[in-house]
Amino acid sequence: MISKKMQDALNEQINAELYSSYLYLSMEAAFEAMNLPGMAKWMRAQTQEEIVHAMKLYDFVNERGSKVTLKAIDGPQVEWPSALAVFEAAYAHEQKVTGLINELVNLAVEEKDHATNSFLQWFVNEQVEEEASASDVVAKLKMVENAPGGLFMIDQELGQRVFAPPTTQGDQ
Ligand SMILES: [Fe+2]
Ligand SMILES: [Fe+2]
Repeated sequence: MISKKMQDALNEQINAELYSSYLYLSMEAAFEAMNLPGMAKWMRAQTQEEIVHAMKLYDFVNERGSKVTLKAIDGPQVEWPSALAVFEAAYAHEQKVTGLINELVNLAVEEKDHATNSFLQWFVNEQVEEEASASDVVAKLKMVENAPGGLFMIDQELGQRVFAPPTTQGDQ
């Protein structure tokens, strides 16, 4: 059993992951409107990954005999001035989420909730990857400075990304 405080914090994180999914879906729509289908596809994979994150938390809360409580999801930003601006926003968002995960770990440590702490380590590691993949694209887009040829090439490259659904619980 986890404490009420931990339960509330994990429920907040379910909301934050679903919001992330919603934000990336909005970014996908922005890329569709910019005629950058590869970047749109990259965002679709990101959207699906965030749902996996939310479901991991959802399952964990249930598994620990706690109660999942869903709340309204905020509306995401819907327009960005450039492809670079979208990925900069994605990178900033992942940095914010890393902060939220760190807060959750701090709470688990404070409460001596070792099981939740152990569970959260997956997210700690995942955030390292999440930040790296977004900042990698930001660096590439800065290099081409929105030149059409460069954008086209990066779009092709990002279009290679495929979402791999988790095969078993605890995977992905
Ligand atoms: Fe996430
Ligand atoms: Fe993420």
